[in-house]
Amino acid sequence: MEHKTRLSVNINKVALIRNSRGSNLPDLVKVAKDCELFGAEGITVHPRPDERHVKYSDVPALGPIVTTEFNIEGNPQHRPFMDLVLKHKPHQCTLVPDAQTTLTSDNGWDTVTHADYLKDIIAELHAENIRVSIFVNAYPKYIEGAKEVGADRIELYTGPYAEHYAQNPEVSIAPYIKAAEVANAVGVGINAGHDLNLENLRYFKDNIPGLLEVSIGHALISDALYFGLQNTIQMYLQRLT
Ligand code: PXP
Repeated sequence: MEHKTRLSVNINKVALIRNSRGSNLPDLVKVAKDCELFGAEGITVHPRPDERHVKYSDVPALGPIVTTEFNIEGNPQHRPFMDLVLKHKPHQCTLVPDAQTTLTSDNGWDTVTHADYLKDIIAELHAENIRVSIFVNAYPKYIEGAKEVGADRIELYTGPYAEHYAQNPEVSIAPYIKAAEVANAVGVGINAGHDLNLENLRYFKDNIPGLLEVSIGHALISDALYFGLQNTIQMYLQRLT
């Protein structure tokens, strides 16, 4: 069955530019509103403990103005992150096991080893009616594990797909097709993200049955320098039709 795949724009890179000058330019709230106006179907933020991109203090202003879907990503082992999410209740929280010093997320959860921990965290989020997605590598056992611990969705880490796509699309997508079959069989929803771009997005979408959402930041914001934000969002949406 055909599913609609939502485009959630990750606005971390916009915050990075703003932070480089210490003023409010570009205005993150305006950018989030405009992304929605231009067709984005979600806004994603990833407030890291060092606050080099989106800051914790951005979340209270963003939450109420996002009318599509607000997704907050981060590592729940950093307790202030959990407190922030529980207080502001986004539509979705994506759990990412990134180290404090990491440049960008580069690995998913081992949902088997950390099953007890994840169950507790997910219960806390579910108590506030927040949908939970777990960032995972495309390995069947971690997807089955995500279902076991009560996640509503997984977010497939697409870094390896993107890295090898140009060289060999069929080989690079193969583990993700298998992962999607497992997710669909056990009944956990499928999101995906990391290094998706105008070149590799359509092939990913076309080959992953039941892909519900992609979150895209770095390439989309970079493309916007050339095409403008409105055109760029439309170009990404077109890859998802
Ligand atoms: N998903 C997760 C968990 C991430 O950490 C990031 C980057 O912040 C993304 C998706 C988006 O990746 P990109 O910026 O490469 O589009």
